[in-house]
Amino acid sequence: MTNTMWGGRFAGSPAAIMEEINASIGFDKRLWRQDIQASKAHVAMLGATGILTAKEASTIARGLDKVAAEIEAGQFDFKPELEDIHLNIESRLAELIGPVAGKLHTARSRNDQVATDFRLYVRDEIDAILHLIAGLQLALGNKAEAHAATVMPGFTHLQTAQAITFGHHCLAYVEMLARDRGRFEGARKRLNECPLGAAALAGTGFPIDRNATAEALGFARPAANSLDAVSDRDFALETLAAACIAAMHLSRLAEEMVLWTSPQFGFARLSDRYTTGSSIMPQKRNPDAAELVRAKLGRIAGAFQALLMVMKGLPLAYAKDMQEDKEPVFDALDALKLGLAAMTGMVQDLEPDAAAMAEAAAKGFSTATDLADWLVRELGLPFREAHHATGRIVALAESKGCGLADLSLADLQSVEPRLTKGVFSVLEVENSVKSRTSYGGTAPSRVRAEAKRWIKRLEKDAPRDRKKVKGPGSRP
Ligand code: ARG
Repeated sequence: MTNTMWGGRFAGSPAAIMEEINASIGFDKRLWRQDIQASKAHVAMLGATGILTAKEASTIARGLDKVAAEIEAGQFDFKPELEDIHLNIESRLAELIGPVAGKLHTARSRNDQVATDFRLYVRDEIDAILHLIAGLQLALGNKAEAHAATVMPGFTHLQTAQAITFGHHCLAYVEMLARDRGRFEGARKRLNECPLGAAALAGTGFPIDRNATAEALGFARPAANSLDAVSDRDFALETLAAACIAAMHLSRLAEEMVLWTSPQFGFARLSDRYTTGSSIMPQKRNPDAAELVRAKLGRIAGAFQALLMVMKGLPLAYAKDMQEDKEPVFDALDALKLGLAAMTGMVQDLEPDAAAMAEAAAKGFSTATDLADWLVRELGLPFREAHHATGRIVALAESKGCGLADLSLADLQSVEPRLTKGVFSVLEVENSVKSRTSYGGTAPSRVRAEAKRWIKRLEKDAPRDRKKVKGPGSRP
């Protein structure tokens, strides 16, 4: 049987393998809500402009509602021989309301139809992601406030560098995530132009009203060039690029959780809710969720690469290659949403061990910079000289197997005779952290104020039920 939707000039039917490679219904059925939404906007416009009679338009609109109800109720029979979501819906519409259904496709093509549906879908996804990121930021902001004065070692090269507070560390991620939101918001703004009415590629001779459909679908304006409107997938690429960077941020936090919860670090604990056991080693408590979040970037970056390669070198306008745009986007955005939800749960769950962190912070000569700064401030030494003298004191402590604060004044004076006992106040990590009051610094007073500022801003944007973070769930 030839395709009933476009088979007029065909005598034979497609090979089975042709049907298999051509069909997208297996995955694009996810776009059904957007397809119905866009069709309803289109048919309302056809009615309003007199291209269809008011009666035809309302019959079609009611038929589309019926189709939607069937899909919603799980009573819709998706047929691969009807290729995609657009033809499946239109064909069912014809069964329900008869030949008038054929008027829905007036002044429209599947090219502008799919471009519109997909933009609507990606726009919805961006909104969901923005909400989830705000939720994660809020969880981090709350942790930061609770741990504004919890001292931990700060690292560079994963070597103890200077003491910081755990709250400060949490707020670093809040900043990263704020930039991620900015990228998604930027992508959403550029995405928000309506392709509907571009038709196949050249526009249409029917007196359509593109402003009306754009407005009905919540777009800022109709896309200005019909060729560009059906050819463009920048909006999907840009969203995936933003997703890659956000997933990269999640992977860094996930990796830190893996490190912190390892017995070797012992900085924090995840509860039974976010860990798993081993089937052979009874003592194990594995941070699987963190590891999986760390891994998600793999598929998200793969999706970006996949779509970029699909689009590379495609001549204008539509080509069937572009049907390959959907699966990577679906997969990547699902993965990001799941990663964000899991990370939010883990951040809420994570219990830092303040004593273990403080003990670790005192190790590794983390107040060496404070000692050098003291020499600069109190003795007027040039920083380079102070650095050198401090280096010798560190070597002395190392040879004695003790920390800087454990050296005697005589030990210290053997390197720099002008040192006084006043120096001991800066050798304690708490004092070190307290002293870093510069703008953006780790002093608890700063961290507390920053955490409060963020929480106030975020409470507006974050998911309402902050205790129970729900996963994105699966769509039909
Ligand atoms: N299923 C198609 C896609 O996702 C819809 C557009 C088909 N257009 C066409 N000219 N065959 O790209």
